[in-house]
Amino acid sequence: MLKVSPLKPEPEVIEEAVRVLKNGGLVAFPTETVYGLGARVFDRVAVKRIFEVKGRPPDNPLIVHVSGLKMLKDVVTEVPTYLRKVLEKVWPGPITFVLKKRPEVPREVTAGLNTVAVRCPAHPVALALIDSLGEPVAAPSANLSGRPSPTRPEHVIEDLGGKIELILDAGETFFGVESTVINVLADPPVLLRPGPFTVEELSKLLGRKVIIPPQARGFKEGEGPALSPGVKYRHYSPKKPLILVELSGLKSLGDYVECVKTVARKVVREGRNVVLLVSEETSDYYGDLPKVVLGSRENLYSVAKNLFKALRAADRVEGDVIVSEGFEEVGVGLAVMNRLRKASVKIIRCSEPFGEFTSGGLR
Ligand code: TXA
Ligand code: MG
Repeated sequence: MLKVSPLKPEPEVIEEAVRVLKNGGLVAFPTETVYGLGARVFDRVAVKRIFEVKGRPPDNPLIVHVSGLKMLKDVVTEVPTYLRKVLEKVWPGPITFVLKKRPEVPREVTAGLNTVAVRCPAHPVALALIDSLGEPVAAPSANLSGRPSPTRPEHVIEDLGGKIELILDAGETFFGVESTVINVLADPPVLLRPGPFTVEELSKLLGRKVIIPPQARGFKEGEGPALSPGVKYRHYSPKKPLILVELSGLKSLGDYVECVKTVARKVVREGRNVVLLVSEETSDYYGDLPKVVLGSRENLYSVAKNLFKALRAADRVEGDVIVSEGFEEVGVGLAVMNRLRKASVKIIRCSEPFGEFTSGGLR
């Protein structure tokens, strides 16, 4: 592990990381969203190792990271003219576009698809790394497959320590949830994964309505084929089972807290200990039940930033079952709810009868 300044990355550290990549090694590096696990895009053997060390299903393609628009032509065949203008505005930034791939991009990277997901990350360390290497870097999030994405170098060590050549430690990442992924080959464009770059903004910039399918909201009913190969897998899971209490359908936050409490009490009555994931606004109302505060309902970016860290923290505190509050699905709230739904083993809607469930039978 090498420490690196997040704002002014030391050239000698970046050079060392470039050396590792050129020798076929894997480098975990910070981006503005989460830590990525990088390999040279054109090094098939290194790319295959990414899948091995993560335990990632081979049919889930990787995101290709470029350091600017110029590098885009190394991996994609064409960029629609209207999109070029949009890219100039949004990159570097937490938004990934699915485009037509060049034949030179190894099939291992794209899981055999004829498309490739590309983004230009807005983190000085990531940019310096790709720029010094002079070629694109393939990088999924640097976690074990199915676990919450890493927002701190310690999370990378927890999941992949001893299995990769180098970790660049630049402290905590900025947004805390992965980039927005959008398929712009479809018209209208389709959101594949919500992220820090909001659909509201994106829709304005693209001058088009963006389709938000149920999978992009994190629902995992087996309806139809998965849109983005990654969405069909269980994700972001803490080790303890997580029950998500949806916010929708209630008149007041007070009623909502009562509902979350009812769920928590039911779990406790069954002889199991609860850890709550709650908002700043509601945290005082749960008495002495153990809890982790995610952030403020007034600033959903704060919730996004703490979410994965909190899921890992909830695993460390005593308790058998995590009960999480839900958040409003506006702006980055769409990304928060997508991650929470996918992390959950059970979703409860307060507006409906809970039905029969026993916390012991979860998972
Ligand atoms: O913020 C991020 O995007 C982070 C950092 C490291 O850049 N990366 C990341 O990668 O989250 P990963 O591999 O954990 O997620 C990539 C997502 C998956 O859901 C995958 O299925 C989708 O992008 N994806 C990749 N290539 C695709 C393609 N050609 N078509 C559709 N979806 C694709
Ligand atoms: Mg991931």
